[in-house]
Amino acid sequence: MTENRRKSKIVVVGSSNTDMVVKSDRIPVPGETVVGGTFVLAAGGKGANQAVAAARLGADVTLVARVGDDMFGKQAIDNYQKEGIDTTYIQKDRLHATGVALILVDEKGENLISVASGANYFLSPDDVKKAADVIRSADMIIVQLETPLETIEYTAQLAQEANVPIILDPAPAPNGALPTELMKKITYVKPNETEASRLTGMPLSNDLENVQKMADKLLATGVQAVIITLGTEGSFVVETSGMGTLVPAKKVQAVDSTAAGDSFSGALAVGLSNGQSLLDAVRFASDAAALSVTKLGAQPSLPTLDEVVKKSS
Ligand code: RIB
Repeated sequence: MTENRRKSKIVVVGSSNTDMVVKSDRIPVPGETVVGGTFVLAAGGKGANQAVAAARLGADVTLVARVGDDMFGKQAIDNYQKEGIDTTYIQKDRLHATGVALILVDEKGENLISVASGANYFLSPDDVKKAADVIRSADMIIVQLETPLETIEYTAQLAQEANVPIILDPAPAPNGALPTELMKKITYVKPNETEASRLTGMPLSNDLENVQKMADKLLATGVQAVIITLGTEGSFVVETSGMGTLVPAKKVQAVDSTAAGDSFSGALAVGLSNGQSLLDAVRFASDAAALSVTKLGAQPSLPTLDEVVKKSS
């Protein structure tokens, strides 16, 4: 990416959690105890992860979020400030605790996540309205689905009115389609294969013919481009109703796949708002996501621009 350019301005509206991660040989089945794991306490939440991912890759980032007025909330805000993120629009909720995610990771890096949403669930359109000017002057907005749908809809409305492109990372995906009125306002939708299957009601299969059909169905909702991530197989990109392109993922030694999707979305926003073509931005995002899988924890694993550039060369 070119040096000495204006930093791109990215606004993330989304969740902020504290993650408690245990990595062990395997994930226990219900009723079972597995001992011998290692523990990490780290900042997480899909929105905050995407904000940190974009900030580490050189963007000027504002996070619009809601945390509890508690120790975890304070730690989270301190942490985002250290990352250079503008925290002006992070509300401290006196009634609801900071979101917490319990994450189990197995030896292959696969995870299982349970979230107590807490304050995230009370991030309101009014909270977003306070950041309306920043949203209107942004180069890119990112939203996910760990905060109320009405808040995401309001953000998409603001983005559309100001002609600012918006990425929807539809995680965690509902079992069924999202409202058409929302999808029409989205520029880029970036599900993984499981999320694409849930949103479209189509079979879960990485067979490219099936992936193309899921992408076509998502495109038909009115979004401008669809990027379906397929784990180690790469990402499938469709911009018009033509044939999609598979962008292969670089091979890495997987430690923990948590936040790989967030790393991808943050990097995609940076690439696109720096003027990269969609395919180049997806290659950049794919390299960032591959690197994030090599370390334990969500935010501790998110790479810097130097690390991604080295990986890409
Ligand atoms: O995408 C990973 C994130 O999902 C974790 O950081 C956890 O907080 C949950 O929100």
